[in-house]
Formats: sequence, C-alpha cells, structure tokens
Amino acid sequence: MKPVSLRSFAKINLGLCIGPVRRDGFHELRTVYQTIALHDVVHITLGRGRGIELRCSDPRVPRDQSNTCWRMAEKMLQALKLKNRVVIEIEKRLPVQGGLGGASGNAAATLLGLERAAGKQLRPEDRLAIAAEVGSDVPLFLIGGTVMGVGRGEEVYPLPDLPAIPMVVATPEVGVATPHAFAEWDRWTAKEYGELTAEQASDRLKRFGSRVSTLLSVGSTLSGAPARGGSRVGSLLLDLVRTGIENDFERVVFPEYPELRDLKQALRRAGSVYASLSGSGSALYGLFRTKEDAKNAAARIVSSGTPAQATVTLGRGQLRKKTFLAG
Ligand code: C5P
Repeated sequence: MKPVSLRSFAKINLGLCIGPVRRDGFHELRTVYQTIALHDVVHITLGRGRGIELRCSDPRVPRDQSNTCWRMAEKMLQALKLKNRVVIEIEKRLPVQGGLGGASGNAAATLLGLERAAGKQLRPEDRLAIAAEVGSDVPLFLIGGTVMGVGRGEEVYPLPDLPAIPMVVATPEVGVATPHAFAEWDRWTAKEYGELTAEQASDRLKRFGSRVSTLLSVGSTLSGAPARGGSRVGSLLLDLVRTGIENDFERVVFPEYPELRDLKQALRRAGSVYASLSGSGSALYGLFRTKEDAKNAAARIVSSGTPAQATVTLGRGQLRKKTFLAG
C-alpha cells in the first residue's frame, strides 16, 4: 500500500512549573505548550502480514519497542482492530532529547497516519487516552497551537491561539534525559526548601495558572490590538515577559550544563524579547518581534558555533492544514 506521509511538528514550552511528586511517581505540572513550524516527516505504511518495523537513518533513534512510535503502533493496531504489518519511517530533523517533543510528535503522527491508512478513526477521547498512555507530551500534538498542559502534562486544553511569533530554536549537541532532570529537580527543591509542603507546592502551581490567565486576558492577546506604537507580537511578548512565567527546569539544567545558560544569554543579546529552555532541554528558543530579527539572531548564534534555525510558532488551524503531505 502507498505510505501516508505526515509532518510531525515540534513544540516549545512557554513556562513550565513543576509541582509535587504524585503517587504514580510522575510530577504534577503546569505548562503552556506551543507548536512550532519545525518538524520531522513520518511515513506510515500498512501492509499484508504482521509486525512493526521502524526505519530511521539517525542512529540515536531506537528502532525497537522502546520507541514511542512502536508503542503507539501496537496500541493503534489493537484499537482499530487491524491485522496488518506496519512500517514507520522517520525522517529525523528535530534534535533527539531536545525538549522539543520530537519523539512525542512522531508518536502522534503515527496515530494519525495509521487512522488515515486504515480509513478508520477513533473517537477523539479515545485518541487522547491512547496518546496519554504513550507519553505525557503526546496528547498536546492532537490539539496543536497554544495548549495548556496540566496533570503530568498529558491533560490538555486548547487555549486561544497566539499570533504567529517569529523565533529562533538553538539546538546544542548535548541531550538532556527528562527523568534525570526531574530527579535533579527533586534534589534541588529538597536542598532549597527542605521538604516543600503540599500547600507550598500547590501555591506555586496556582501562581503559574494565574499568570497564564493574566497573559491571555490582557488586551494585546485577546483583542489582537497592539499597544500604542507597537506591533501585536511586540506587545504580546512584553506581556509575556511581565508575567514572569519561567521554566523550572532551568534551575537544575543550567548548573549542570552552563553552556546552555550562556546560550540563553546569547539569544537575549541577539535581540530576543523572551528566551527560555524548552522542556528539560537541551534546546533553547528566543522569541522575536519580527522575522528579520529572528533571521539575524539565528545567523549570530550559528556563527558562534551552535546550530540554530529561525522559524515561527504554528497555530492550531495551520497545524491541521499542514500535517498531511500530499501523497
Ligand atoms: O510521560 P513520559 O514518558 O514522557 O515521561 C518520561 C519520564 O519523565 C517519566 O518516566 C518520569 O520519570 C518523568 N516525568 C515526571 N513527571 C511528569 C512527566 C514525566 O516525573 N509530569
């Protein structure tokens, strides 16, 4: 059968607040996910026979059951009651262990690709449930655009889409393992606060939620009207800075990888209004007022020796329109 080909977009986190460890061992968290235009390409083929085969020329991508696409394919074959062989081919462009949700996006693309190849669709709530079983960062890609993530990040709510924001993604060579970053966070909070009381921890989460709410209710975001003399994106970015939304992972990842802190500074010096680590890293991003600013900044970061690309945030509608490649 002919393959179904899809773009598997990346995400960044506009702030990420880590709460207490839950009974299931995961951390309660709050974050705003934002999908962006950078992507991998995934090809899904459904054929005669049985079994799952993964193809990827990047040696860092596992080709066995440990790959999120494999786990997704297993679950989808069962959910769609298919008795077929599945071949998943990943054209890897996004960094591995980069904090851009590359592997999670690939898993979401596998879900959508298998549905399309089989000519069958799950109910939206069943899709979200399967995505959440495969990984905390998978469901967001089924919504796309600007998305509130709560619970362990898998409980997702669409937020009003922000306008397209020019940005730079810098992808240093190092990979940061997310479980390790969470463990470091636990060590850091124990040292910093002694034991965080349940009340202190939930206050931090509430504060993050109210900052997001403030950001989304200020004039430039809701009405689309720019502050006097400025652009809509410019006003929005200033509002974002004012909220003080941060990514908690920076507190533990930067001391371990000081070059990432330096890279954030370099993005700021290159003119970004807001810069941050994405997820647990190692990718950092900077948001800019104009495409031109982002392009110039990317060139500066590249000339200082770190791979970087200018890109743009991707809203829900655009993501839906651009996901399937004509085949
Ligand atoms: O859900 P996902 O497979 O992406 O999570 C990878 C690992 O990250 C988990 O096994 C857990 O150690 C950690 N994690 C966590 N709290 C979260 C999300 C992930 O501790 N909210």
